Order: sequence, then structure tokens, then C-alpha cells
Amino acid sequence: MSSQKTIFYPVYFVLIISVGFNIFLVYSGYLTLDYNTLAYITTCTTLKEKPLENSTILLIWFWPSGRQLGLNSCSAKFNIDGCHLTLDRELYDDAHGVLINHRNIKNDLSNLPTKPRPFFQKWIWMHFESPENTRRLDGLDNLFNVTLNYRRDADIGLREQFILKNEDTEDKIFPQVLDKKDKLVCWIVSHWNEKLERVAYFNELKKHIDIYALGRHFGSKVNNTQYKETLTRCKFYLSFENTNVHYDYITEKLFNPLTFGSVPVALGAPRYIYERFVPKDSFIHVKDFSSPQKLAEHLLSLDKNVDEYKKYFQWRKHFEIKLVDYPEEHACRACQYIRAKKDYQAFGNLSKWYWDAINDGI
Ligand SMILES: *[C@@H]1O[C@H](CO)[C@@H](O)[C@H](O)[C@H]1NC(C)=O
Ligand SMILES: *[C@@H]1O[C@H](CO)[C@@H](O)[C@H](O)[C@H]1NC(C)=O
Ligand SMILES: *[C@@H]1O[C@H](CO)[C@@H](O)[C@H](O)[C@H]1NC(C)=O
Ligand SMILES: *[C@@H]1O[C@H](CO)[C@@H](O)[C@H](O)[C@H]1NC(C)=O
Repeated sequence: MSSQKTIFYPVYFVLIISVGFNIFLVYSGYLTLDYNTLAYITTCTTLKEKPLENSTILLIWFWPSGRQLGLNSCSAKFNIDGCHLTLDRELYDDAHGVLINHRNIKNDLSNLPTKPRPFFQKWIWMHFESPENTRRLDGLDNLFNVTLNYRRDADIGLREQFILKNEDTEDKIFPQVLDKKDKLVCWIVSHWNEKLERVAYFNELKKHIDIYALGRHFGSKVNNTQYKETLTRCKFYLSFENTNVHYDYITEKLFNPLTFGSVPVALGAPRYIYERFVPKDSFIHVKDFSSPQKLAEHLLSLDKNVDEYKKYFQWRKHFEIKLVDYPEEHACRACQYIRAKKDYQAFGNLSKWYWDAINDGI
């Protein structure tokens, strides 16, 4: 026994020295590693778990926009069995699906898989931003098999949802949050662009009503906890999207205030698009008013009338909101889809579908 141990000492020694040397290189700046390389190395050096014979292998090509996700949570969190999520590119030849997040793709597509695609493998295009704010890349047509997007006509459509409760229950949020409300109108914004309608609207609105404005643009970055607290403290939240009339583009900017007990004031798609996704009495739409000043007057009057304000909470008797767990749920749903649908499938013209369809379906 003891002699065996001795034999292995030099091996350990070499390992420790080489790992140490690499750490030294990284810290001293001689070696720079990007996020995905680091993640890749981490997966390779930890013990590899072999996929079961009958499991569906989903290769996550990049951490979506740098966000890591738990690789073993599909079963526990979403009740999806039989998925083997991995970052191990050596499994490429066996992978049933490859999940590719648009924002991570280089302009020349040079960081996409280059090996021939096994006949059964599907590439999933994942993207959750509006076309107006997305780089249009050449060469993506006739490349993917499946789309994972917020649009209702995506192969895998994923978004926050209102669901009908099994039975009506009294709203608990309103009494809880009412005491905490010491601000009237709030807005948290990081991406500031003078050309966007929301900036012009904000500049006009603030002449008529006090707006508690936070976020990177206003020199006060907020973390997750502060974000939720702010939503609770404010009677109204400006759910101003960074784009106007795009196909189904309604984001967490609307769903988070609804979840944390604020009333959203929506700017983006027209009201009737919003009403496809949320009850009409759960939000205020800027176009309900002829001007920012008229909107301000309405908000000020609701501030003085609790009964009228409370009406915006009535939907809570009948519905609840199911948020989306980004990016874990996305990966698990992608695997679930690939596992269920094994037939041939090709997505033709992605540019036409995504970038050129801006006003379609409205
Ligand atoms: C996969 O195969 C194993 C071993 O045959 C079995 O125990 C397991 O239930 C199977 N899982 C699924 C999801 O079919
Ligand atoms: C968020 O920021 C506040 C104020 O700077 C700090 O007290 C709190 O610990 C932070 N919370 C998290 C989760 O980082
Ligand atoms: C996936 O799409 C590509 C490109 O259109 C196609 O060549 C391939 O056969 C498709 N694979 C499957 C399994 O549908
Ligand atoms: C996709 O459709 C656009 C028009 O929306 C067209 O300009 C482009 O050539 C098409 N791409 C291919 C590969 O056919």
C-alpha cells in the first residue's frame, strides 16, 4: 500500500506545479482566458459524467450571454427527465441538440461548430432580444433547425405567462405592499438612447410628475434585491421597452412589476398586443392618454384614490404569473423539445423571419 502511494507522489507533484503555473500565468496577465474557455476547462478537469444510453444530449455551445446554468436541474426544477446537458464539446458527435445563443456568435461565425453535423443533430437558435437591438449576421439562413425565442410562432416559445388559478383566491399582495409605497412613479434604466421613444416620453412626463429614476444611466446601479424592493415601493413603474412595435416583444419590464406589486405603465407595442399576454386591467398604456401630461394627471389622481388604484390589483384573484428561469429553463425546454421531436426539421430563412418581420402579425 505505502509503496503504491510513493509511486504517485511525482504525479501529484507535476500536477500541482502545472496547475499552479497556469494560475500564475492567468493572474500575471500572460494568458488571458475568456469565459467559455474557462468554463470548458472547468468541465474537462472535473470528473466527466457519462450520458446514459437513453438520455438526450444537449450541448450548450456557449454559456448564454455569459450566464452559467445548472446542468442537472431539468428534472428537479421543470420535471423534464432524460436530459443530459453538457458543455463538453467532445460530445459533439453524440449530441442530439446544440444550443447556440445569438449574442455569443462572432460576426464572421468563426466560433460556431465546424465539424460535420451528425444526421440526427439539431441546432437551436436561442435569442431573447428585439430585432431592432440585435446584430443581423450574414450566413444564418438555412443553418439552424429550431428557434427558441419569445415569439409565439417560434418552435420553442418561452415567456412569462399568466395562468388561471384553479380557484379564485383573494389577492394577498395589495395589503402587503400598500404600506411600503413611498414613491409614486419609478423607472430603472441602464440603456439610454436619445433616439428611443421612451427617452422622449420620459423627458416630457417628468415635467408633470415626480419620477424616481435609478439605474446605470442615473449613476445608481441597482442589484437584484434593490430592484425588487424598488418595484414594491413604487405605485407605478415605467415599463418602457427599448423598441416599439415588434412582434410579441413584451419583456420582464412588464412582468416584474406585476409580480412584485407595482402597476406597470407600458410603452412599446400597441395595447392590443399587450392584451394578448396580460389582462387588460393589470396595466396602464401610455397611448391610453393623448399626452404625457394627461397620463401624469391620471397617475396623480390615482395616488389620491386608493379604491381606484386597487382596481389594478383585481386580476390577482383569478390569475398568477409564471416567470421564466433564465437561462436554465431555456436549456431544459430545448432538450425537452429535441427529445420529443425527432423528425427532420430545418429552419429556412432566419433573417426574413426575425429581422424582416418587424411589423408582421400586428
Ligand atoms: C434509461 O435507462 C435506464 C437503464 O436501462 C433506466 O433505468 C431508466 O429508467 C431509463 N430512463 C428513461 C428516461 O427512459
Ligand atoms: C445590494 O446593494 C445593497 C446596497 O448597496 C447592499 O446592502 C446589498 O447587500 C446588496 N445585495 C446583494 C444581494 O448584493
Ligand atoms: C438541420 O438543419 C440543417 C440545415 O438546414 C439540415 O442540413 C439538417 O439535415 C437538419 N437536421 C435535422 C436532424 O433536421
Ligand atoms: C432571406 O430573405 C431575405 C428577405 O427577407 C432575402 O433578402 C435573403 O436573400 C433570403 N436568404 C436566403 C438565403 O434566401
